[in-house]
Amino acid sequence: MSKQLLTVPLRQSETDNKKVYIETFGCQMNKADSENMLGLLDEIGYKETSYIKDADLMVLNTCAIREGAEDKVYSYLGAWNKIKKAKPGAMIAVGGCVAQDAGQALLKRAPYVDVVFGTHNLQRLPDLVQQAEQTKAPAVEIWQELPSDLPELPVIRNNDITAWVSIIYGCDYNCTYCIVPYVRGREKSRAPEIILKEMQELGQAGYREVTLLGQNVTAYGHDLDSAIHLGDLLRLVGKTESIKRIRFITGHPRDLKVEIIDAVKEVDTACEYFHIPIQAGDDRTLRRMARGYNVDFYRKKIDEIRSRIPEAAITSDLIVGFPGETEQEFMRTISLVEEIGFDSCNTAAYSPRPHTPAASWEGQVSDHEKYERLRFLNSVVTDVALKRNQQYLNKVVEVLAEGKSERNDSRLAGRTRTNKIVNFSGPASLKGQLVNVFVESVNPWALRGVLNEEFSIHKT
Ligand code: SAH
Ligand code: SF4
Ligand code: F3S
Repeated sequence: MSKQLLTVPLRQSETDNKKVYIETFGCQMNKADSENMLGLLDEIGYKETSYIKDADLMVLNTCAIREGAEDKVYSYLGAWNKIKKAKPGAMIAVGGCVAQDAGQALLKRAPYVDVVFGTHNLQRLPDLVQQAEQTKAPAVEIWQELPSDLPELPVIRNNDITAWVSIIYGCDYNCTYCIVPYVRGREKSRAPEIILKEMQELGQAGYREVTLLGQNVTAYGHDLDSAIHLGDLLRLVGKTESIKRIRFITGHPRDLKVEIIDAVKEVDTACEYFHIPIQAGDDRTLRRMARGYNVDFYRKKIDEIRSRIPEAAITSDLIVGFPGETEQEFMRTISLVEEIGFDSCNTAAYSPRPHTPAASWEGQVSDHEKYERLRFLNSVVTDVALKRNQQYLNKVVEVLAEGKSERNDSRLAGRTRTNKIVNFSGPASLKGQLVNVFVESVNPWALRGVLNEEFSIHKT
């Protein structure tokens, strides 16, 4: 039946020819949320477009982690307003962490925005869009926490080989620099059986790799009645038919219990890859950051990993120029990067954030000094990453072929189990397969190689 035959006039939003353009800033959790937003909007007839000028609805999923990320929101919105003006009826919706924090106040800076929603009420997006369509007035709704019964949200994923699955929301830590607990709320784990069901559906749909997500993924389960931890969950979902690889990010050193490391070792599909941010290599700084561990504790964690899984890749996040950080303390972060030999690090200059104690502390480091430290740290991180990658030279690695290489269309790109990007030549038909690649050259960010001679393709 064609919809045109219906006698009851459809509201515009119920026709299925509307287009949504979505832009996502921030972490993987935000990217996963955007896939839910697309699933939700699809239910009221919005299909995704990658051309913003075609869009009837522009959605900005925002990040508040640093001032720069927040500034970017308002400069994007300014540009989007021009597009909106040129297209009568077009709407702008803003979600994510900046929206959660600003709420109604976002309209003061960007009065042309039609919908503001937060991190706890994604499921309200379709109604809010329809409300704004009908009333021609902004619809703003922010919840202070997630509903106690987490809703199962529809999802439209933009990758057909690798998928994200959120397993825990929020963060119960209160690092003195971080806005995340304020905009994402308390930790809340999804039930293991629901995660398993989602994994099974992904397996049936042909996905090969799943990354389990959380701001503090290593705390998974502590808020559930069943005494389950991330290691148990890995064992539970690890045998999901057709899912060949499972990863998890982001871990907190304090919660990375030996039981979790043991599960990574034992579960075949669990990848030898640990992203466990240390933030700084100096005890006084760690204490003032309220991270809840010292450098020695972190060293022991690394030993626990490497003694069980020597080939594991270990990556981290680092902040330079935390208020009061001296040159000497900063140099301890440099030494630590060299000592641990991180495979890669996300690095950032400290940025004062609202609602966080450190923002109002004395001893703020000047921008000039912060960026000098950042530049030096980045050069060390790069040198160390190169050394780590050189260990792969002339070796054969198992790569999940994910698609065409971004840099060179005639090559394929994929990743090792240790999350190293590998560019290699081969037919596009290999996409989704595990292949063996012989590594011929490396740089600090990726490996490059050729399909191994035997052309051996793992059974998938
Ligand atoms: N939950 C994770 C990190 C989440 S936020 C953890 O605790 O490790 C991602 C990263 O952003 C952090 O690891 C930190 O390095 C960085 N970050 C957070 N707040 C910041 C701030 N105010 N200034 C600079 N970097 C910050
Ligand atoms: Fe932020 Fe600390 Fe929570 Fe990580 S653990 S999200 S840095 S408060
Ligand atoms: Fe940014 Fe929010 Fe993630 S502040 S890093 S998008 S949780």
